Amino acid sequence: MRILAIETSCDETGIALLEAIESGRTTRKHAAPNVPTVRVLKNLVSSQIKIHRPFGGVVPNLAKREHLKNLPILLEKISGKTPVAKKKFFAGIDLLTVTVGPGLEPALWTGIEFAKMLAAEYKKPLVGANHLEGHLYSFLLSKKKTAVQNIFPAVALIVSGGHTILLRIESFSQWKRLGETRDDAAGEAFDKVARLLALPYPGGPEIEKLAAAQAKTGGEHGRVAHPKGTITFPRPMLHDKSYDFSFSGLKTAVLYYLRDNPLAIAPARQKMDIAASFQAATIDVLAAKTLRAVREAGAGKSRIRSIILCGGVAANKALRSRFAREARAAGCAFFVPDFKYNLDNAAMIGAAGYMAYMRKKKYPLRADGGLEI
Ligand code: KG4
Ligand code: ZN
Repeated sequence: MRILAIETSCDETGIALLEAIESGRTTRKHAAPNVPTVRVLKNLVSSQIKIHRPFGGVVPNLAKREHLKNLPILLEKISGKTPVAKKKFFAGIDLLTVTVGPGLEPALWTGIEFAKMLAAEYKKPLVGANHLEGHLYSFLLSKKKTAVQNIFPAVALIVSGGHTILLRIESFSQWKRLGETRDDAAGEAFDKVARLLALPYPGGPEIEKLAAAQAKTGGEHGRVAHPKGTITFPRPMLHDKSYDFSFSGLKTAVLYYLRDNPLAIAPARQKMDIAASFQAATIDVLAAKTLRAVREAGAGKSRIRSIILCGGVAANKALRSRFAREARAAGCAFFVPDFKYNLDNAAMIGAAGYMAYMRKKKYPLRADGGLEI
């Protein structure tokens, strides 16, 4: 099945072409459905980061304008320019899919209207896709085919700019929400702390760079500007019994730290130290809660076989390696998408749309900014 997927939920315009080879059938031996093989043939992303950067975040109406401009350009790159080429291209497409939420509604609508227009013009089925399911399935897009059968039950952590959600997954169509953030998402905290440090948007990669530089200058705790060594920021809700997260207090702790220790004496040094200490606190909480969910699932049938890490923040190398290490120690397989599929892209939407189609899950074809997983 050939799938054309469209993503416009935030500040990346994405169009992808995929081939899905296997459906979610059930093998005789295992109750969990097989993992489908999804091949990405084309994955085009047009990033608007530069446009939103001066505003320190995504401006919905600017995003909408850019999506409107970029969608036809990206499509022509895949389908060819002439009506004949387009007709031929769409003759080989079996399914159209588009993100319907969550995200910025003006941005989502541009993709939905564009997809509807294509579906009507070329008479193709169109299904809505959940952006969060896209992140969840994004590890399936890797070219490197790892053994991904019998991976359930799994614990998945979706960490992005808008979400921090911990799930227990029984199969590709069945999961339970264990916990989520009560305030800021982890990515949002990275972005806000970066802003406090006068770093450009998006903040995650900037913080990561500084934290990596800090680690190089003096080992894990660094020779840092602060006399007490690495700053000990709080680990919010680390010992709370729930699987929920909270990151706004951590951001406030950075704010207070900066109030008491203005970036004046050794700004570069101090920025590195704050970035590294903030990142360490965030990773500690994300890893601890995820691993507790694994442990508390217990043994026997409910034993967790794998950990899935996904979403924009999962591009963070320190987070990935911490999860890989912890998963190994817990005897779990570990899945994380290739770097190019961490940030918003249409390939993951292709996987989500395909799964929704196979599961007969029909999302209404209208923007739903608060759509849940
Ligand atoms: O998944 P995504 O592209 O968009 C949403 O669905 O929200 O995630 C974007 C978020 C931003 O907050 C960005 O700062 C964060 O992911 N991010 C990172 C890194 N790369 C992107 N956070 C930490 N480390 C990174 N390397
Ligand atoms: Zn996303």
